[in-house]
Amino acid sequence: MSLFQLEDIKKEFKHGSTKEQILKGINLELKRGELTALVGASGSGKSTLLTIAAGLQDLSSGSITFGGQNMSAMNAEGIREIRAKYFGFVFQHAHLVPFLTVREQLELMLDTAETKWSKKSRAARIEDALKTVDMWNHKDSYPESLSGGEKQRVAIARAIIHEPEILFADEPTASLDSKRSIEVMELIEKLARELNITVLMVTHDNDMLEYAERIVEMKDGKIIES
Ligand SMILES: Nc1ncnc2c1ncn2[C@@H]1O[C@H](COP(=O)(O)OP(=O)(O)OP(=O)(O)O)[C@@H](O)[C@H]1O
Ligand SMILES: [Mg+2]
Repeated sequence: MSLFQLEDIKKEFKHGSTKEQILKGINLELKRGELTALVGASGSGKSTLLTIAAGLQDLSSGSITFGGQNMSAMNAEGIREIRAKYFGFVFQHAHLVPFLTVREQLELMLDTAETKWSKKSRAARIEDALKTVDMWNHKDSYPESLSGGEKQRVAIARAIIHEPEILFADEPTASLDSKRSIEVMELIEKLARELNITVLMVTHDNDMLEYAERIVEMKDGKIIES
C-alpha cells in the first residue's frame, strides 16, 4: 500500500500578466521505506514538486494523500502539523547555525518545534539521532570545524530527530565531493532500509542513482519515466 500519493498535481506561477504552468499533472506514489530519486534537467520542476509534496508550497490543483489523509483539503495549520510530525527536510546546504555546537543545533530544533512528540527524552532523542548519523563524537564541535559531509550528516540528524515517516531531500549531495557524497548517500539509504523512512530525493548526480530503488524522471513539468 502506498504511504503517499500525488494525483494530477498542477502548479502555475504568474509572471506579470501571464501564467506559466510549471507542473503539468504529476502522479506519483511513494511506498513506505522506499528510496525514490527524482531526476531531470534544470528547470524541469523537481524542486517545485518536492516542496509541494512536502507541504512547503501551495499547489494550483490536484491532491496529496498521506497515510490516507487528504492533505490538499487541509488548512495551513493541518498541513503544518503533518509536516512537523511526519516529514523531515534536507537541502543542498546544511544551513547550520554557526555559533551553536552540533548538539545545540538539535536542541534548537526541539525548542522551536511546537508539536508534542513521543515521550522519549530530549537527551535520548539527540543522542539517538547523532549516533544514527555517526556524529555523536562530534557533539560538542562547531560547524566551522566540520567537513561538508559531516555538516550534512548533522543536517540529516536534525531532519530525523522527530522520527519522521518521509524524508524530502533536495540535492543533498550537490555541495559535496564524491567521497562525502557516497557517505551521505549510504546514510540516507540506511535510513530507508533500517528505520523504514520513505525518501524522496532530487539529485543531479548519476553516481547516487544506484542507491535508489526507484528513479523517476521529470521533463518540462511532467514525469516521463517511473
Ligand atoms: N516561485 C516561483 N515563481 C516563479 N517561477 C518559479 C518559482 N519557482 C520555480 N519557478 C520556475 O519553475 C521552473 C521549475 O523550477 P524548479 O526549481 O522546480 O526546477 P528544478 O527542476 O528543481 O531545477 P534545478 O535542477 O535547477 O534545481 C523554473 O522555470 C523556475 O523558474
Ligand atoms: Mg531544484
